[in-house]
Amino acid sequence: MEIWRLITVAITFSSLVIPEIFANNGSTVPRDDDCAEENCSPNGPIVRFPFRLKGKQPENCGYNAGYELNCDHMNRTVLEISSPSMKFLVKNISYKSQMIQVNLAEGCQLKRLRDLDISAIQFQFSSPAYMVDRYTLFNCSLVNNNTRYSSYWYRRISCLDTPGYEVLATASNNEIQSLSVDLCTKMYDTNLVSAEIFEMKNMLNLTWSLPRCKSCEVHEGGICRRKNGTNNQIDCYGGKTYKFGMHVS
Ligand SMILES: *[C@@H]1O[C@H](CO)[C@@H](O)[C@H](O)[C@H]1NC(C)=O
Ligand SMILES: *[C@@H]1O[C@H](CO)[C@@H](O)[C@H](O)[C@H]1NC(C)=O
Ligand SMILES: *[C@@H]1O[C@H](CO)[C@@H](O)[C@H](O)[C@H]1NC(C)=O
Ligand SMILES: *[C@@H]1O[C@H](CO)[C@@H](O)[C@H](O)[C@H]1NC(C)=O
Ligand SMILES: *[C@@H]1O[C@H](CO)[C@@H](O)[C@H](O)[C@H]1NC(C)=O
Ligand SMILES: *[C@@H]1O[C@H](CO)[C@@H](O)[C@H](O)[C@H]1NC(C)=O
Ligand SMILES: *[C@@H]1O[C@H](CO)[C@@H](O)[C@H](O)[C@H]1NC(C)=O
Repeated sequence: MEIWRLITVAITFSSLVIPEIFANNGSTVPRDDDCAEENCSPNGPIVRFPFRLKGKQPENCGYNAGYELNCDHMNRTVLEISSPSMKFLVKNISYKSQMIQVNLAEGCQLKRLRDLDISAIQFQFSSPAYMVDRYTLFNCSLVNNNTRYSSYWYRRISCLDTPGYEVLATASNNEIQSLSVDLCTKMYDTNLVSAEIFEMKNMLNLTWSLPRCKSCEVHEGGICRRKNGTNNQIDCYGGKTYKFGMHVS
């Protein structure tokens, strides 16, 4: 009896951790719905509640303005934040794990890193806690042009390099032991950011917590969407308990 329950739990659990969190083959929003799924290109991520693709889906389709996405001139899916103005390319959206995978758009987005405050937008860094820190940026002279500051301790922001200088970021509590005071000038401290943001080639994973759609999308197999005529209540369309509706705080 107990053993069967354990096995059931193990199977259920393993089916959750299989890396299919981005698979999107459960229920779908009806095609004739105002808020039917859209994307910027056939290979682009599918956009639906809580997100909204501006220009392709009406305003009420997104949860709020923070979830608005754009298609750019190359049909890429773009998340733009306004304060500071930064652009991210959206590579994948997992509605089940409430996670969005982004890359920095071209054009040195990190030059506005000083003002980035993730707590002011509706996303959170999903990286492990040890990667999330305040970073201090330094402008370091390259005494002769073949000196490179390379170390486990600091990350280069190469788009901020100027001739003879390069810009390095290091977790704020490392700053003293890791850089030469003679050659490096402190620029500023950041807010809490994930080290992932300095690795341009890698994806940055961001999660969102509201609206709380996981239980609908994961456990009920439905599609989370705004309850018609409400501001912040959600329905689990096609879910096992659809007719009861759901509420979010
Ligand atoms: C999104 O993630 C899934 C599963 O990890 C993967 O198969 C798919 O290729 C990804 N899509 C993009 C555009 O990266
Ligand atoms: C989604 O597809 C994967 C394989 O691509 C499959 O294992 C899984 O059972 C499917 N889920 C649903 C709800 O159809
Ligand atoms: C973008 O998509 C439109 C409509 O599908 C297509 O006509 C256009 O060629 C695409 N542009 C690029 C740069 O892929
Ligand atoms: C780094 O310092 C040099 C010399 O003062 C300056 O020209 C350059 O603009 C600085 N770089 C940044 C990103 O501020
Ligand atoms: C480093 O190289 C740049 C351009 O190649 C040059 O302008 C500068 O004078 C050099 N600096 C040193 C210290 O050699
Ligand atoms: C982002 O999430 C995906 C899917 O869970 C994972 O495969 C990837 O390693 C994560 N990336 C980082 C930088 O944590
Ligand atoms: C939403 O409500 C409005 C008015 O209450 C109604 O006209 C509309 O048909 C409803 N839409 C759906 C999809 O139920």
